Amino acid sequence: MKKIRIGDRKEGMTIRPELHSQFIEFLGSCIHDGIWVGKNSKIPNYDGLRKDTVDALRAIAPPVIRWPGGCYADMYHWRDGIGRERRTVWNENFGTQEAESNAFGTDEFMRFCEMIGARPWLNINMLRGTTEEAANWAEYCNRKENTALSAERAENGHPAPYHVEYWGIGNEAWGGGGTYTAQGYADAYRRYASAMPSFQNPFSKEEDSNTQMKLIAVGPDGNKPKERVKWTRDFFEALSQYRFPKIYGMDLHFYNWNLNTEETSETAFAQEDWDRVVRSCMEIENVIQEQYGLIQEGLAKVGTPDPDPFFVRPQCRLVIGEWGNWHRGAFTNRPALFQQCTMRDAITSAVTLNIYQRNCDKVDMACVAQTVNVLNSLILTEGDQTILTPNYYVFQMFLPYRGGTVLDLTCENDGKVDTDPFVFASEKDGIVTLNIINPSMTDEMEIAIEGADLCCLRGTVLCAENPNDCNTPRHPERILPRGVAPLERGSDGTFSAVLPAASIQVYQFQRGRKTGKWEPEKVRIS
Ligand code: AHR
Repeated sequence: MKKIRIGDRKEGMTIRPELHSQFIEFLGSCIHDGIWVGKNSKIPNYDGLRKDTVDALRAIAPPVIRWPGGCYADMYHWRDGIGRERRTVWNENFGTQEAESNAFGTDEFMRFCEMIGARPWLNINMLRGTTEEAANWAEYCNRKENTALSAERAENGHPAPYHVEYWGIGNEAWGGGGTYTAQGYADAYRRYASAMPSFQNPFSKEEDSNTQMKLIAVGPDGNKPKERVKWTRDFFEALSQYRFPKIYGMDLHFYNWNLNTEETSETAFAQEDWDRVVRSCMEIENVIQEQYGLIQEGLAKVGTPDPDPFFVRPQCRLVIGEWGNWHRGAFTNRPALFQQCTMRDAITSAVTLNIYQRNCDKVDMACVAQTVNVLNSLILTEGDQTILTPNYYVFQMFLPYRGGTVLDLTCENDGKVDTDPFVFASEKDGIVTLNIINPSMTDEMEIAIEGADLCCLRGTVLCAENPNDCNTPRHPERILPRGVAPLERGSDGTFSAVLPAASIQVYQFQRGRKTGKWEPEKVRIS
């Protein structure tokens, strides 16, 4: 029996919804088939956007979506994807090896974001593009005043500016994005950051607000322990020399690699493969703490300039622009990087989201890689079938965390990550939301929750009959979240439950009441 004690609010620790953000890219069938089917498709669509995907995403409203890459951003010319005439190019990224029609471009992406309630993050082409191309893309998207580019946007159907705030300056510059050194990238970053328009017009009389530009620099490869420390140190060392450029955040990428084994499929695995993958996703917590510390250290190096009335001490947030499980099979699967999703992936996704949430004072935003048909997906499509994966249900079950305040939690454990429960709780509007993950592939777990002033309102559990199960076109609902009866307080005053092996449960409690019925209108949290 593991005891869990729900404690007080950690004031100031508010969970930014942006920690639940997503990433889509022109790889495999993520965009084509997954999101875009075209207006003339037999597959139901909203003006070309796949209806099932839009409807499913609308229900979980991803706060931010990053696009067009990833690596693909470094070959993407935004002009190829606007207007009537689209330019076909070849996409050889990660084994995609297909013609890219550019039918899904900036205006289609913006419509997609508008429909699902997400804010866009555009990643510019730093490798094959120019500062002018990047600045013009921002002008096309955001200029509210009448110019040739804003007129072109109007002609393409959107007179109002899109107000795109997040702009990624390059992608993985240490690798495919240019094999830069951190110093070299810092110099290039200075140029690009300086070239981007600010969209701040203090003399504008229009009611439409100015767009805040949030420029995001390339952070390190989170999977390289030595290199990542050096990258962040050297990058800030270089930026702190002379004047500091505009910066909002630094984008670290971390994949839970599952490559060095005999295991070839993401669904056929044994106990040791399960344990290894679950264990290794937890490394991100150390990476966050280390990188957050390095950013603060780097910013502290910024000296006091010569007298300058415009000097503002810079800040830089930690952003995780790509994360998720990457199994070996993804390299040979077709479409490229397609991965099935089992409870093993759902558990690592839930653990990772919990890590972001409990470090919400250090992480500003995180985007799962990727939303549809690529790697750690929430949605898979095959022909006209659309399947929601267990990962989708994790994001759905975690919706109440957005905007909540982190709670202090203590949980008895044996110091064994494979069998100890992983727990997290937050509070919002008097409602406590607790999740408990049983990471054991084979064993049930007994828990007892202490909370004198709590009344359990409801519970939801996500688990499978078999650890290797997944949702497929033939069995799309094999793994579904199930509502369970609210936990009853026992004679010892605790709420006890037996958790199935390999399961995720979310319980909601009302504060300040020991008994009583749930009042739904008060606890529905968007
Ligand atoms: O998400 C797939 C790829 O992984 C991205 O294009 C790249 O940024 C990363 O290496």
